[in-house]
Amino acid sequence: MEIVVAKSAGFCFGVQKAVDTVYAEVEKGGRIYTFGPIIHNEQVVSDLRQKGVVIIDSLEQISELSEGTVIIRSHGISKKAQDVLEASPLKIVDATCPFVKKIHRIVEKDSLEGKHIVVIGSRNHPEVAGIIGWCQPEDHATVIENEEEAGHFCLESERDITVVSQTTFRQGKFKELVEILRKTGYNINVVNTICNATAARQEEAKKIASKADMMIVIGDSKSSNTQKLYEICSRVCKCTQYVQTKDNLKRDPAISLRCVGITAGASTPKNIIEEVQNYVRINF
Ligand code: F3S
Repeated sequence: MEIVVAKSAGFCFGVQKAVDTVYAEVEKGGRIYTFGPIIHNEQVVSDLRQKGVVIIDSLEQISELSEGTVIIRSHGISKKAQDVLEASPLKIVDATCPFVKKIHRIVEKDSLEGKHIVVIGSRNHPEVAGIIGWCQPEDHATVIENEEEAGHFCLESERDITVVSQTTFRQGKFKELVEILRKTGYNINVVNTICNATAARQEEAKKIASKADMMIVIGDSKSSNTQKLYEICSRVCKCTQYVQTKDNLKRDPAISLRCVGITAGASTPKNIIEEVQNYVRINF
């Protein structure tokens, strides 16, 4: 049986940088906080918790802290949250991915010029909430998740529109939603801000899944980019499994396996990918 592990599986540049930043700050000592979990991965988060890293979930908690270092994760935060942090006595270490920062700059500039901002992405994802938080004012922005919302898009007054995307959104769906928005008749400027790492990971996963008898997608259940990888792989490989660790793997004896493909979301550590690969090699 052949096992094909995607070269792009696992930590992307932005996540690696954020995780390395936290471990480096832990080494320096002192009280360390992260604004939200540093990544969507329970093993990494719990290891950091054991090393004393505390997760802050709200701006109210910031006002109760008088010392320590707070690390901003790769998803980034809103302008309001940034202002609150800067006004606090805490040391700020900003690990926002530069590609996400670029979107903040675009939406801040264009919204200040009076343009309406459309963010194509998942409304409840922290990256999208952070992006919306750089629009001035924030209600000059709309999040669009699907075809229905794109089709019903309508503004009260005529304005130019800038469209950006959540970095981990699916390329094909982004293009479809943009096409629907173009039919609304507004003057639309589209900036495709999907991260290359995401696009390359999705392309490679699709290619491997299309020739595999079984495809394994590894990642945390809350990870949006892993969920999208699973959707992509499921379309081309009926036997696709979404697992968090090797313990969730299932082997259907009715399916003969000549080729098993493995990919993983951007917040999946290397050791978990290796464990899954070894488990498949020995037990499947
Ligand atoms: Fe950054 Fe792209 Fe990763 S935006 S956090 S390098 S998926």
